[in-house]
Amino acid sequence: MSSSPVIEAIREKLDIVDVVREYVPALKKAGRNHKAPCPFHNEKTPSFTVSPDKQIFYCFGCNEGGDMFTFVMKIEGLTFPEAARKLALKAGVEYGEERSHAMTEADRERLELKKLLTAAAEFYHKQLFSEAGEKARLYLGERRLNKATVERFGLGWAPHGGSALIDEMKAKGWSRDLAQKAGLISEREGGLVVDTFRGRIIFPIRNQAGETVAFGGRVLDPEAQPKYLNSPETILFSKRRTLYGIHAALPQIRKTGKLLLLEGYMDVIGAHQHGVDWAVAPLGTALTSEHAGFIGRYAKNTVVMFDDDRAGIQASVRAAEIFMEAGMYVRLANLGTGQDPDEFLNEYGRDAFEVKLEQASDPLEFRVNLFFKNRTTPPGSQEKAQAIALLLETVSKQPDEILKSEWVKTIASRFGVQEDSVLKQLKKAPEVRENKGRTAAAAPKEIPALERGIIQLLLRDPSFLEKASLLAPEDFSSPLARELFAALLVLDPAARPKAASALAAQFPESASLIMGLAVADIGEGGDAQNAVRAVRMLKRKASERRIKELKGAASMTPQQLEEYSRLMAELKSLAKDL
Ligand code: GTP
Ligand code: MN
Repeated sequence: MSSSPVIEAIREKLDIVDVVREYVPALKKAGRNHKAPCPFHNEKTPSFTVSPDKQIFYCFGCNEGGDMFTFVMKIEGLTFPEAARKLALKAGVEYGEERSHAMTEADRERLELKKLLTAAAEFYHKQLFSEAGEKARLYLGERRLNKATVERFGLGWAPHGGSALIDEMKAKGWSRDLAQKAGLISEREGGLVVDTFRGRIIFPIRNQAGETVAFGGRVLDPEAQPKYLNSPETILFSKRRTLYGIHAALPQIRKTGKLLLLEGYMDVIGAHQHGVDWAVAPLGTALTSEHAGFIGRYAKNTVVMFDDDRAGIQASVRAAEIFMEAGMYVRLANLGTGQDPDEFLNEYGRDAFEVKLEQASDPLEFRVNLFFKNRTTPPGSQEKAQAIALLLETVSKQPDEILKSEWVKTIASRFGVQEDSVLKQLKKAPEVRENKGRTAAAAPKEIPALERGIIQLLLRDPSFLEKASLLAPEDFSSPLARELFAALLVLDPAARPKAASALAAQFPESASLIMGLAVADIGEGGDAQNAVRAVRMLKRKASERRIKELKGAASMTPQQLEEYSRLMAELKSLAKDL
C-alpha cells in the first residue's frame, strides 16, 4: 500500500482499535488483542481480531485483514484515497484534495464518474423545479411527498426529448465517453446517442457513503413501459449489491440494529417521510445473498415487508429463505390491507404501521398463517399433506437445527398431525447444502470449458474484469463459475494480485480447483484476445438461453417482451462483432 508522509502522520495519530470501534462497538479486549463478531461476515462467535501492537485486523473466519486504511476501505466501500481522506480528517492531518499520485487509474476513473453522476443529479434536480418539471412536481405532490423529502432524496426530473442531459454535459465539458460509462447516455442503432432517462422522475441511487452511483427513473405516463428503469451496471453500480436508501437509513440502523426491507423506491421514501427511517429496498430485483451479507453486517433485527399482493408475498418468502441460507434471522410482516407500505402510511400513519412491524412473524409462522388465512373449513388430509410439503421446503433451508425442530413442532400442532411424521417427511425433502451461501462447493467439477477458460483468465489477470464488464454472474451456467465470477467482481482491486488465494480462502472446498486454474498453462494466443472472444461467446450463449426460456413461456409480460427484444438486438450486435 502506498506510503507517504501524510499517510504515516495519520498512522501515528490514530489507533486502529479506535478506528474499528466506531464501526464495531462490540469490540472487546481479549488478552493482547481485541475481538468482536466479524463485521464482514455473519457469525456468532467472534473471530474478528484487532491487534493494537501490529495495528492490523484479521478475521479467522473470513480471512479479511489489513491495516486501518484497508478496514475503512472495506467497511465503507471506499477507494484508498477516499479512506485516507476520511482518516486524515479524524486525525486532524491536512490532506490535499488532489493527491492524485496516490491513485490508480481505476480509482481516478471512479472518482470522475462520481463527479459526473453528482453533476447529473444536480441537473435533474434543477429540472424538477423548472417549468419543464411541473407535471412531475404535481405527481410527487399527489404521492404526498413533501419538499423536505424531495430534497433529502435528491429527486429530479429527466426531461422528454432525449438530449437534455447530453446538451448539459456538452455545455459543462464532460466527455461523452465518461457519460456512456456512467450509463447516463446510451447508443441507439445507427450510432445515435440519447439520454438514458427521458420523461422520468429521477431517484438518485446512493451508496452507503452517500455518493450517487446510479439512477432509477419512474415514468409519469401510466401507459409507458417499463414503469421503472435503472441505470445499467457500471464499475460503480451493481444491482445485486445495492440497497436503495441505505445512506439515509444507515445512521438509524447503526444505532438500533433494526432494518426494514421494503419492496420499492416509493415505499422507502414514504417510510422515511413518516419517520420510519431504517427502511431500505432492493432495486426491483430479488434479494441476493450479497444483499443479505451486507445487511447482516449492520442489522441484528431485520423485518421484511413487501407489497401486500401475491407477488409481494412470494417475494418476501423467497427473501426470507435467502437470509436463512446466510444464517440470518429475519421476520416477515404483512399489512393485510392489500396496500403498499407508502399507501398504508399515508392512510393510517406511523403508529399503525409500527404495530404491523411488531406483529412480524418468523418465516415459517408467516407461511402457516397464510395457509390458514381466509379458510372457513379445516383442510382435508391431502390438502394438509400438500401444504406441509411446501412448508418443509422452507424448513429444510433452515441451517439452525434448533429452529428447524421448533418449526417441525409448529407444523405438527397447527395442522394437527404427528410430529414424527413431519420429521420423517422432512428427511425425505431434498438435501440442503450445509455450507452457507456457498452453493458452488457441492458440485465443483462441472464447469463448461468456455466458462472455465474465462474464470482462468480472470484469476491470472483480474484486470480482464474490465473487458468482461459485459458479463453478469447469471451469464454463467455453472453455479461454481457464477459464484467465482461474482466473487471476482467484488474483489477489492488492491487484492487483485492475490485473487487466486483470496478466492481459495473464500471457497475452501474448491481451493485446489481454483489454484489449479490459476497456475495452469493456457496455451497459445494472446490472453487479451482470447478473453474478449470468450466473453462475447459466453454472452451470446447466455442470451440464447434466456431467449429460449422466454419463447417457451406461455405468454410474455410487457417487461419480458422488452427484455426479449433487447436480447435479440444484443445478439445481433454480438454476432456482428465476432
Ligand atoms: P409505484 O407505482 O411508484 O408506487 O411503484 P411501486 O414501488 O409500488 O412499484 P411496484 O410495486 O410495481 O414495484 C416495486 C419495485 O420494483 C419498484 O420500486 C422498482 O424498483 C421495481 N420495478 C417495478 N416495475 C419495474 C420495471 O418495469 N422495471 C424495473 N427494472 N423495475 C421495476
Ligand atoms: Mn407503490
